[in-house]
Amino acid sequence: MLNDSIAQLPTPCLVVDRKKLGHNIERMSARARSLGVTLRPHMKTTKSVDVARLVFEGGIGPITVSTLKEAEYFSGHGFTDIHYAVGISPDKLERAFALSRAGVNLILTLDDPEVATAVVSAAAIHGAGALRVAIEIDTDGHRAGLVPDDERVVSIARTLTRNNIRFHGLMTHAGESYNVHDRTGLEAHAELERSAMATCASRLRAEGFRDIVVSVGSTPTLTAARHLDGVDEVRAGVYMFQDLFQSNLSVCSLPDLALTVLTTVIGRRPDLGFLIVDAGGLAMSKDRGTASQHTDYGYGLVCDASGAPLPQRLIVGNVMQEHGLISLPAADFGRFPLGTKLRILPNHACMTAAAHDHYHVIDTESGSMAVWPRCNGW
Ligand SMILES: Cc1ncc(COP(=O)(O)O)c(C=O)c1O
Repeated sequence: MLNDSIAQLPTPCLVVDRKKLGHNIERMSARARSLGVTLRPHMKTTKSVDVARLVFEGGIGPITVSTLKEAEYFSGHGFTDIHYAVGISPDKLERAFALSRAGVNLILTLDDPEVATAVVSAAAIHGAGALRVAIEIDTDGHRAGLVPDDERVVSIARTLTRNNIRFHGLMTHAGESYNVHDRTGLEAHAELERSAMATCASRLRAEGFRDIVVSVGSTPTLTAARHLDGVDEVRAGVYMFQDLFQSNLSVCSLPDLALTVLTTVIGRRPDLGFLIVDAGGLAMSKDRGTASQHTDYGYGLVCDASGAPLPQRLIVGNVMQEHGLISLPAADFGRFPLGTKLRILPNHACMTAAAHDHYHVIDTESGSMAVWPRCNGW
């Protein structure tokens, strides 16, 4: 019955398994509770208010976002404690202050003294409301941030106490955890993230700063951390859907993956050894993250219409804008007539979801299906 409804959906489209999503959410919420930290879920993956409500069991809570558009979207649905966890550029400050004046408890992120000065100067013009600013710390050489013992951490914190701006605390994202290949390595990486942040916060306390919020986060480090002493909150996002990359990291297993792309067989080329489906690079993304891991899933792992991986372990081996090519032994073509519906598990859920503006959420127990919108763009 549910499979019939799925077969009616226009392809390509996103299909989310509600039960798996709920399970992933509950597991990570329980993990944060057991580690004694607040979970500030990163909504960059799902960009969905319906998913955010699931995380907070129907209520509202502190969230992380990756764009001001998300901040505006979630605040429009009642979420008022929002950390915009991408470095703020001064040209975006007017929008940030508008949110703040509208009553949003917005936390900005920066790692540069010039930007800190721009924020306090802009506050004098726009009025800051409850605007808070976190300093980004680079704990593993992954991307943005100041290294923990950089003296500018203290000087920026001092700058951020003027003109109604509040220095909020320290944040980091241990993104190099995505390149660690075993559980022991992940545990070590989580400890590196925690201890570097705890030490940096102690240094600020010694300089007289009080009430420093220490925020860390990634799905792999939150999954692997043995303890989070000295940390107040964690931000994780991809755990809600999980994906092939996370499963290769042993952060989850294949049956946990909640997001698939539904696709239709639109061509068959036994002479060339592939099926053609209508999920190409736009519908799947061109993320090849699993290429560097122990199991390379090409552009995605092929499942039947019920979401179960096919026994032959088929992958999408190549994509063009609207075409996906699934390599197939000649003997198997008879099983996949034109019009066959398949579901593809993505390498990287955040990137795959980004080209779609809504989810079809299926409940395998009740057989019901719902449409949940996403907030794309900037
Ligand atoms: C700043 C920041 N915090 C938290 C996260 C969450 O990481 P994950 O998606 O691994 O849960 C990300 C992910 O890119 C991030 O950029």
